[in-house]
Amino acid sequence: MRVLGIETSCDETGVAVYDTTAGGSAGLRAHAVYSQIALHAEYGGVVPELASRDHVRKLLSLVRQTLAEAGLTTADLDGVAYTAGPGLVGALLVGAGTARALAWALDVPAIGVHHMEGHLLAPLIEDDPPEPPFVALLVSGGHTQLVAVDAIGRYRMLGETLDDAAGEAFDKTAKLMGLPYPGGPQLAALAEQGTPGAYRFARPMTDRPGLDFSFSGLKTQVLLAWQQSDQSPQTRADIARGFEDAVVDTLAIKCERALDAAGSDTPACNTLVVAGGVGANKRLRARLQAMCVQRGGRACFPRPALCTDNGAMIAFAGALRLQAGQHDDAQVKVVARWDM
Ligand code: KG4
Ligand code: ZN
Repeated sequence: MRVLGIETSCDETGVAVYDTTAGGSAGLRAHAVYSQIALHAEYGGVVPELASRDHVRKLLSLVRQTLAEAGLTTADLDGVAYTAGPGLVGALLVGAGTARALAWALDVPAIGVHHMEGHLLAPLIEDDPPEPPFVALLVSGGHTQLVAVDAIGRYRMLGETLDDAAGEAFDKTAKLMGLPYPGGPQLAALAEQGTPGAYRFARPMTDRPGLDFSFSGLKTQVLLAWQQSDQSPQTRADIARGFEDAVVDTLAIKCERALDAAGSDTPACNTLVVAGGVGANKRLRARLQAMCVQRGGRACFPRPALCTDNGAMIAFAGALRLQAGQHDDAQVKVVARWDM
């Protein structure tokens, strides 16, 4: 089954074709992402109306480009998957409307996919994919969640953030130290030049039991440290390093707890799947891999390009659902907020 995937939930237009007969990474016939970062940078954040308009401008040419790269035409498609939420409603409607129209014209089924399920399944697009049960850490700009994956489609929420998401904390912290939007990756790059231990921030909510997170207090601690510092480039790098270490440590502590809670005699306790934009963070990847290896298990990540928003994860998640016989009726329905 060849499925076209369309992602337009925020500021990235993503399109891909996934072929289930090949499977693994070979199944990903082509994928392309157009980022609107330059468009939103001058506003310091995503402007929803501009995002929708830019998706309209780019989406069809990206569909054409992706099909050409895959060596396919629309006649080769067996289904169309699109992100139905959560996200910006206007932006989601562009992808949903286009996907529905294409599916109708081609007389193939269409399916709306949960954006976070897309992220969660992205590591399965890589070779030697993990098999459920496993524990998933989803860390994006809008979500920070620990999920027990009993089977594909059977998810139990173990913990989530009570305020800012991890990516949001990266972006806000970068902004308060004067880095341009979206600051997460830039803050991470800056942290590479920082002196470890020069600044030490709290590891929020690790001193009590539980799997929930809270990152907004950390941001306030950084603000105070920044305001009281000499604000030199080296100090900025040192604070960035202190912040990154605090987030990475906090996530690692909670992941280990979640693996412990999954039970010592089940495979889930040793397999951690990490996805979402912050999953591209090098220090987080190294730390979580080391923690899992020490337990005799492994951490599975998608390649960095499939950690951040993309169409491949939507094509893949949609293909699994379509293969299982699911599809939506002809309505164009999207939702801003949606529990997975
Ligand atoms: O998954 P994603 O592309 O979009 C959402 O669904 O939110 O995640 C974007 C988030 C942003 O907050 C961005 O700053 C963060 O992921 N991010 C990173 C890195 N790359 C992207 N945060 C830390 N280190 C990185 N290398
Ligand atoms: Zn995302």
